[in-house]
Formats: sequence, C-alpha cells, structure tokens
Amino acid sequence: MTDNGREILVTVGLGNRSYPISISRGQLTKIGTDIAARKIGNRFCVISDDQVAGLYGEVLMQSLLEKGLAAELLTFPHGEASKKLETIGTLASQLAGIGFDRGDALVALGGGVTGDITGFLASIYMRGIPFIQVPTTLLAQVDSSVGGKTGVDIPEGKNLIGTFYQPQAVYIDPDVLSTLPDQELLGGLAEVIKYGVIWDKEFFDFLSANRKAILALEDSALLPLLARCCEIKAQVVEEDERESGLRRILNFGHTIGHAVEAASNFTLIHGLAIAIGMRAASDIAVLCKLCPPGDAEAVRRILEDFGLPVEIPSELDRKAIRRFLLTDKKTVGGRVFFVLPQEIGRVMITDKVASADIDEVLANT
Ligand SMILES: NC(=O)c1ccc[n+]([C@@H]2O[C@H](COP(=O)([O-])OP(=O)(O)OC[C@H]3O[C@@H](n4cnc5c(N)ncnc54)[C@H](O)[C@@H]3O)[C@@H](O)[C@H]2O)c1
Repeated sequence: MTDNGREILVTVGLGNRSYPISISRGQLTKIGTDIAARKIGNRFCVISDDQVAGLYGEVLMQSLLEKGLAAELLTFPHGEASKKLETIGTLASQLAGIGFDRGDALVALGGGVTGDITGFLASIYMRGIPFIQVPTTLLAQVDSSVGGKTGVDIPEGKNLIGTFYQPQAVYIDPDVLSTLPDQELLGGLAEVIKYGVIWDKEFFDFLSANRKAILALEDSALLPLLARCCEIKAQVVEEDERESGLRRILNFGHTIGHAVEAASNFTLIHGLAIAIGMRAASDIAVLCKLCPPGDAEAVRRILEDFGLPVEIPSELDRKAIRRFLLTDKKTVGGRVFFVLPQEIGRVMITDKVASADIDEVLANT
C-alpha cells in the first residue's frame, strides 16, 4: 500500500492480471485522466442503476468525455431484483446496438448489484471485454468491487450463475458515501467488522476505538478503514482467487446470515443479516469450545455498538431458517460449513457442528 496524502493505492497482485485500487476523495471528477492514461479501451460504456446514475452518472461521464474518451451511459432499475439474466440480455443488446466491440470497455458505477452485473456482462460479451469498478456503496468499496466475483441470481438462488473475472482497476471515491442511506452504510460496516474478526485483531480494535469518527465518515478513520479492508481482501484473493480454500473465510457470518436473509424473504438488508450471522457463529464457536467466551462477547459488543442487529427478528420462523441452512449453495452434500472464530483475528472452517448446537444458538439468538 502507498499513501501520498492525496491517494491511497493498494495493488491486487495476480501476475499479468494485477490491478490497482485507488482510494481518493473527489476522484470521480478525475477518473477520465487515469483511464485515458491506462489505455483500457477505445470506447466506454458506464453501467449504473437508475438511482446512482441520477446522482453520479453525469459527473463520471463528464470526466470521461473531457479527456476525449468516447462514452455512453446505460442504466437499469436499482435493486437486487435487477440482478438477473434478463438484465444481462437487455444490456448486451444495447451494447450491440451501439456497435460495442472487443476494443471497448465497461465501467460499473454503483453498488454490488451494478458491479456484479457489469462484471458478468464484461466477462461474456464477445467472450470478454475489459471492465472497471467505480463502487459507490460501502459494501462495494470494501468487498464486492475487489476480487473478480461476478454473477446474477436465478429464481432457484442468489449468485447461482457467474464467473471469476477481474477488473482492470478499482476507483474508490469516499465522497459518494455521503448520499448513501444509513441502513446501507450499516450493512457495509458489518462486512468491515468481519475483516477484523477473520484476519486482524489490531483492525478490530481500531474499529472499536474509532466508532464515532467512522459513523461520521471522517477522513482520519474512513480512509484507513477503506485501505485496510481492500488490503485484506486483496491478500485473500491473491492466495485463493477461485475460492477453493482460504477465500472461504470471507463467508464468516454468512451461513446463518444467508438463511436469516432468505427467511426474511430478502426484506432484511444483506449486511444486517450477516451481523446476526456473525454473532450466531461466534456463539456456536463457544459451544464447540473453539473460542473463548470473551472473544464472542467482543464480537457481539462491537456489532451492537455500531447499531447492528444481533438477534434474529422475532417474526422469523426458526424452522424456516433451519431449512434454508440445508439448501444454501455453500452447503455441500448436506454438510453445513461454518466459519468459526478461534479468537479475534483468527478463524477456522468446519462442518463438524452438532445439530443440537445449531438449534441451541438459533433458539437463543
Ligand atoms: N462480487 C462479490 O464479491 C460480492 C461480495 C459481496 C456482495 N456482493 C453482492 O453485492 C450486492 C449488494 O451490494 P450493495 O449492498 O452495494 O447493493 P446495491 O448495489 O443494490 O446498492 C444498494 C442501494 O444503494 C443505492 N446506492 C448505491 N450507491 C449509492 C450512493 N452513493 N448514494 C445513494 N444511494 C446509493 C443503490 O441505488 C441501491 O438502491 C448483492 O447482490 C451481493 O450478492 C457481491
């Protein structure tokens, strides 16, 4: 990582597919300069949801056009419901309609939904064209824009169709977080806390100590936070790009979290469900005698301090959550895998959790 006071630069090191993550306030207005210098494509198509396009589409387009880059803007309706094959088909037809070819490139401007859609489209349009990530939610800035997982949902499940396809560059402008709804910011913070628990106790302590400054999006806390999350994600992806081993630790909180999200019929924001899942996984780790109770208590406390939920909403049926646990795509051959903390900063993956322990924790969460 380098920091020259104006820009923090993190590199994702994947040989000839390596790419930079640039973190800099106000850079949305200047992205065109860097993209032009990198010669990523002849023409560009910015893809964004209708909400983000309304807020930031024009600024980004202006920044590309004023550097002499040819650029178009395509939008789709905001929300997870757009993350489907039909959207990919519609956008591909629009690209073909404007004569987009293999020398051209896509720019994802938006949250994780936009990044996943754009990355997937880039990976299959004309058998693959370059793309750039400009993430605008905290979740996308610290997680989904880095690492090259792309995809869409089908009625049978979330993210069931997709590819691994790395972007050419990631441009993070913390300024855009000022318009993010509070709940979306909180959801992203759950993923931030996750990095502390799975990888870095010092970062976990930093988050606890800087809670107020983080929630106020102050530079002193927000910039190191973004940088450290990107650094950890880059390190994990460098070691295990295709999630055959280490990368699975990023699913901490997701086993029960996903089941809770599904049982809520996706009315609960992903990150908030993951917060509940992280608390539950920590309690399971204590029951399995893998984690000292004090560390599980610290996980619960930091989540609560940030205003994240740690209890399954009372209206959700525990039996339905149990059923979703077995149908999750991360469940292999009926074996439910959990990422469990052994202490803050260190986790293990196991499928050896007794059914009774899962039931006990679900009953008490
Ligand atoms: N590829 C990966 O590695 C990965 C990792 C985690 C999550 N994901 C995926 O990410 C998606 C969730 O991403 P998300 O939480 O960013 O959702 P999202 O993209 O739907 O964004 C959430 C909402 O915030 C709005 N928004 C975005 N930026 C804004 C801004 N700056 N100001 C105001 N409003 C803004 C959007 O219009 C949208 O309504 C899920 O589909 C999930 O599967 C992917």
